[in-house]
Amino acid sequence: MTTKVMTFYGTSVGKKVVMAVTGFIVFGFVTVHMLGNLQIFLGPEKLNAYARFLKGTGAFLWAFRGVLLLSAVLHILSATQVTLQSWAARPEGYAVRRYRETTYAARTMRWGGPIIGVFVVYHLLHFTTGQLHPSAPHFDGTDVYNNVVHGFQVPWTSAVYLLAVLMVALHLYHGVWSMLQTMGAAHPRYNRWRRFLAAAFALLVGCGMAAVPVAVLAGWVRPV
Ligand code: HEM
Repeated sequence: MTTKVMTFYGTSVGKKVVMAVTGFIVFGFVTVHMLGNLQIFLGPEKLNAYARFLKGTGAFLWAFRGVLLLSAVLHILSATQVTLQSWAARPEGYAVRRYRETTYAARTMRWGGPIIGVFVVYHLLHFTTGQLHPSAPHFDGTDVYNNVVHGFQVPWTSAVYLLAVLMVALHLYHGVWSMLQTMGAAHPRYNRWRRFLAAAFALLVGCGMAAVPVAVLAGWVRPV
């Protein structure tokens, strides 16, 4: 069984399936995370109660974090291997670069991924552990509402988040498009639907994520 799995992973289709499945898990999390963040518009009690509820799930939360971390590691590993394989297949590069995949999102996948990875590390030190939060060393992990508002009142921080959200949306757009292809919806007849689905999903998640720093900067969401 293990040999069969490794043989399948050794093929480029195998790596792409791993990329698609792990990408689905990570972006499932990002979508739920975006919906959770929007509770900031319902006020501090709602958002802080939601955060308390999640932290109260104990072993389930840690199991979920384990699955998320494993998915992120496998996603990065398979993406790196596919990239290295494609570079090895054409080490001298193209004399004239012609992109078969025409979108900006497709071309940014390879450097967008590492940027998102660096952002997530910054994000965890900012909002989860608090070392990079403006109120450190008095960061209060139980007051998520004020942590988020104070965090985004720093304009350069909001700018970093908005840039990261843009990268996430572009990555998501091309990711959904590629995932549907890997999963079999590759016929040109489906292209319009694939493009529409990918764009709608990326736009929804991107706008939902961006709404929070924008609302804080605009003064619509204030500290309490
Ligand atoms: C503007 C958008 C975002 C806001 C307002 C936001 C807010 C937060 C907050 C407040 C926490 C800490 C929750 C707590 O410890 O109680 C958190 C955790 C986290 N966020 Fe975000 N986030 C945003 C975007 C993102 C993006 C784009 C990603 C991934 C690409 C992401 C990934 C994570 C992860 C992995 C955690 C840790 C979850 C855990 O503790 O298990 N976030 N976020």
